[in-house]
Amino acid sequence: MKHKPIATQEQREIAINLYRSVWEVRNDGWIHLSDNASRLLDVEARGGDVELARARAAETLDLLEPIESYWAFPGRAGFLRLTGLFQDREYAGFNDLVHRISRALSSQSYRRSFVSLHLDEEAAVEEEERRETEGRVDRGYFEVLVVDEISAQEEETLRERLRSMRREEDKFIYELVVVPSFADALIAVLFNFNLQAVVIRYGFPLKSRYKLDILRQLLEGYEEEGLESLAESERGCLLGTKIAELRPELDLFMVTDVSAEEIAGKLCENFHRVFYREEDDRELHFSILRAIENRYQTPFFTALREYSQQPTGVFHALPISRGKSILQSHWIQDMIQFYGLGVFLAETSATSGGLDSLLEPIGPIKLAQELAARAFGAKRTFWVTNGTSTANKIVVQALIQPGDIVLLDRNCHKSHHYGMVLSGAHVVYLDAYPLNEYSMYGAVPIRSIKQRLLELRRAGKLDRVKLVLLTNCTFDGIVYDVERVMEECLAIKPDMIFLWDEAWFAFAGFHPTYRRRTGMGVAKRLRERFRDPEYRQRYEAFQEEFGEADDEHLLATRLVPDPDRARIRVYVTHSTHKTLTALRQGSMIHVYDQDFKQKVEEAFHEAYMTHTSTSPNYQILASLDVGRRQVELEGYELVQKQVDHAMALRERIATHALLKKYFRFLTTGDLIPKDYRPSGIESYFDSQQRWARMQECWYTDEFVVDPTRLTLYIGPTGIDGDTFKHDYLMQKYGIQINKTSRNTVLFMTNIGTTRSAVAYLIEILVKIALELNERNEDMSPPEMRLHQLKVESLTKRLPALPDFSHFHRFFRCGTDATTPEGDMRKAYFMSYNEAQCRYITMPELQKYVAGGREVVSAMFVIPYPPGFPILVPGQVISKEILAFIEALDTREIHGYRPELGFRVFTDEAVAEAASSTAGGVAAARVAAAEAT
Ligand SMILES: Cc1ncc(COP(=O)(O)O)c(C=O)c1O
Repeated sequence: MKHKPIATQEQREIAINLYRSVWEVRNDGWIHLSDNASRLLDVEARGGDVELARARAAETLDLLEPIESYWAFPGRAGFLRLTGLFQDREYAGFNDLVHRISRALSSQSYRRSFVSLHLDEEAAVEEEERRETEGRVDRGYFEVLVVDEISAQEEETLRERLRSMRREEDKFIYELVVVPSFADALIAVLFNFNLQAVVIRYGFPLKSRYKLDILRQLLEGYEEEGLESLAESERGCLLGTKIAELRPELDLFMVTDVSAEEIAGKLCENFHRVFYREEDDRELHFSILRAIENRYQTPFFTALREYSQQPTGVFHALPISRGKSILQSHWIQDMIQFYGLGVFLAETSATSGGLDSLLEPIGPIKLAQELAARAFGAKRTFWVTNGTSTANKIVVQALIQPGDIVLLDRNCHKSHHYGMVLSGAHVVYLDAYPLNEYSMYGAVPIRSIKQRLLELRRAGKLDRVKLVLLTNCTFDGIVYDVERVMEECLAIKPDMIFLWDEAWFAFAGFHPTYRRRTGMGVAKRLRERFRDPEYRQRYEAFQEEFGEADDEHLLATRLVPDPDRARIRVYVTHSTHKTLTALRQGSMIHVYDQDFKQKVEEAFHEAYMTHTSTSPNYQILASLDVGRRQVELEGYELVQKQVDHAMALRERIATHALLKKYFRFLTTGDLIPKDYRPSGIESYFDSQQRWARMQECWYTDEFVVDPTRLTLYIGPTGIDGDTFKHDYLMQKYGIQINKTSRNTVLFMTNIGTTRSAVAYLIEILVKIALELNERNEDMSPPEMRLHQLKVESLTKRLPALPDFSHFHRFFRCGTDATTPEGDMRKAYFMSYNEAQCRYITMPELQKYVAGGREVVSAMFVIPYPPGFPILVPGQVISKEILAFIEALDTREIHGYRPELGFRVFTDEAVAEAASSTAGGVAAARVAAAEAT
């Protein structure tokens, strides 16, 4: 640009940590430019300091120029027109155009209708607008990135050539974005949500011509050394690989002017097709449209819709089908009024014929599940209509036989504990690190997992260890270093199977930072890594140094698995309905198991049959299909916006003077102890340092916090989490939240969260804070003393969270009992026998335990919150557990009856159980003697 930039204070500071994200800079940029343009017009009319107003506008234009080069609208030509008007001092036209673009961007109207960037009175343009609008209505709009160093003239010619191929019947319409270099292509892929396809030309420079910090930060962690030495001819392939890593959903094409046959032979799997220069433009155009259609298709949803339009007579056990039982009713018409007829027209079942069966899919369900597997990076995907509670039980039953050992986070969802009972697993409970100040748990450190595995190895039981089962991310948003956990476990046991309960993490596969820490993302990466010769060398060096090391050294070292022996056997369960578009209970099981066909398929089928309804709800299935389409086409955008909203919320609370008095969002530093945070990052946002880059800790730390889950610490209010949730958020303001602890409430953002929802929550918190101010001011001295005591109990005197004690030796498996695994099923079914159980009250129990007696729980005891089993069947009750239960002020404790107390085994029952166990007779005698 010809004008001389004069940096304002505001713009000079545009640096990495000032803004949450580059999208925010773009939004703000257009808002500033609109203000600048209006002011310019105004100053000119009033005869004020035009040069100053001009300098401001020039700065913003300078900022936006590189940013806009990655988007098709307003596009390079549109932006040039804008700067042309500015340079010609046509301020009225400039102002008009800036506002038009800004409005189109904020309402996204450019996706639906052509936005003219000529000045209004040009009649010819209006004509063009009308034509284009007609062409666009109801068509999916997207953008295609072309990576090539071409002139503006060539760019326009290419654009026109591709535009001329549009046909009336096309379902989609696209516009081009052209970037000249490797770095620009990566920036565009990360920045531009509208991209659905990338066309890589054969040879282009590496570096971007722009030096804007805020754009460079997008590449942090993604750039690699040594690119300079890469021959131009190889850059296209490498760029394809990089893009596939960042946004695997994008369709990639290559256009080359050297022999296309030769390139095609060398091409990596990531490209759909290779074309020879312009001669194949038409083919390229159709391939782009076909590829997006491939992601857009929803085989099952489409089949269901078609089915619902067919006339059928129903002689089947489904009176609601086609709305019949409702339409004929005098009393329940309001159901149709509320839901509409569509949902009932589509009510059907596999046995009524015409549609596929979930239990034995061969048609649209099968195809739709294959598409889901592709989208989520799995080898196989299975839909589940009864939530992840069922998905988890299916996987555990498929993988585990009675007597197999499973390492299980005790703090995981109850479906796993019940899964252990059903499968007869011998369970080694793993303890997550406690966060006593907030009455919640973190996650299980890799060191404790390794410790358990090494113990089992020493005891000669490693061959029975089948599965490591962890929750990623946890309810409170703690995310594992999935890669490290799998690598280190595989180094100890090369055929270890992993079940990652990602009930809360289905969205994570659609963002590159998150995907690095998902079960499916890592499974693929490890498979590739174990084939890499460089990795083999790393393994050999490790083996040389640590091959003979003792357990202490192994615990202190990052272990490297043997690539020839390690198998990738990973299962992931998603509550799709929790974080993506799907009806309640819509879940998925994703499988990436090299040995699935050989070792698991049959058992999996049986387990699936065990738990799957013969009347699955087809609406749920259809929603899973559509939800998959959504994330394959706009998942990246939705996740990034969700992160942005969550970060905005963090910033607001941290900087609001009144809110700070009562509330604070727990930071990474609060939720993850220092030892697990080598990055040293304490917080994504703080008012001094402003923004830390999320990528930094996501690359290095053992645990990270998912920023979209926000735990609000409310200790200083003197109100406990449960009361705050019910009496304040829900009853007064209709805000729904899911989880609380004694002094926290958890807010979850999701892909449906909007800026106004964020603003509403802030408004509510401000109202509550004002109310609390008033309450405190009006307190009498005794009330104030009581209040202070309450605050103290919520902020200082919190009961320590107890570790899992141990299974009673009669439920420990084997006579040596040197390792902690327990047979929970034995204890669980023993408790069905009334004669072997009794109830014991809290005071009585306290007396027994204080006196050194072993009392064994016959039940799961699960306080809500926190929601994990404080006792499981067969577990010895410890004084720490009793102290914790006593200090809890939780309303619900499942498995505990206040009037009767705890259900425990009688001493005789325990002794008898022992005598039936081989080698347990002697122990039984001891126990019987103890009991008397
Ligand atoms: C970690 C975890 N796994 C599984 C489930 C069960 O999922 P669903 O509600 O889909 O049955 C939950 C539910 O909250 C959960 O938190």
